[in-house]
Amino acid sequence: ENSNDLSGRRIVISAGGTREAIDPVRYIGNHSSGKQGYALARTAAARGAQVTLVAANVSLPDPAGVEVVPVTSAVELGEAVQERRSGADAVVMAAAVADFRPSSSVGSKIKKSGGEPVPIGLAENPDILAELVRTRPERAPGQTVVGFAAETDDVIANGRAKLERKGCDLLVVNQVGQGRAFGTDDNQAVILGTGGSATEVPNGPKEDLADRVWDLVVERLTG
Ligand code: C5P
Repeated sequence: ENSNDLSGRRIVISAGGTREAIDPVRYIGNHSSGKQGYALARTAAARGAQVTLVAANVSLPDPAGVEVVPVTSAVELGEAVQERRSGADAVVMAAAVADFRPSSSVGSKIKKSGGEPVPIGLAENPDILAELVRTRPERAPGQTVVGFAAETDDVIANGRAKLERKGCDLLVVNQVGQGRAFGTDDNQAVILGTGGSATEVPNGPKEDLADRVWDLVVERLTG
């Protein structure tokens, strides 16, 4: 690490958490801070990569030398990532993408209803990571696609199943719950790879986990 081993590489990273509009003033969101994605962007840039960071609702300073593309919703994030993935050596989906969005976009603020229930219908969002894999350009050595997953239990077994389902090359599996991961500066994870590899990363700064991810990406790219 901290060598220039990502020099000449182009990398796209998504970070943060999407917001799905209920009406002009309300949204469905999540607790993602964007810190892990930003740590990935900083470390990749430090290792010489040309980095595009698609940032969903993150209130962190732009990393130096990184192109930051702000987005709000899952659909916007998907479009921004797909538009920029062509020619990239790696795409890392660190963002927490909402699985659902309100199905009807309401143009004006929903009024109180005198105690009556207010149903919000939900439509499924596209699985951006799975789409990246499905539409991956066929070229050697290919584009490395990395996903993230948060699991509360059976971390390895659930992670393996998710890696297979999504079809990505690497899956960074966090154990969540008990106040872990969200918004903190530290993270602990196991990085699963196709072919059965499992790299355990002990609890430490999010930069350390990011550097382990890049080590594995470099390994794949240099083959
Ligand atoms: O299925 P799950 O949400 O646990 O998968 C998490 C991974 O999939 C993350 O890398 C996340 O960025 C990505 N994802 C996505 N599109 C979605 C949901 C999740 O790309 N609609």
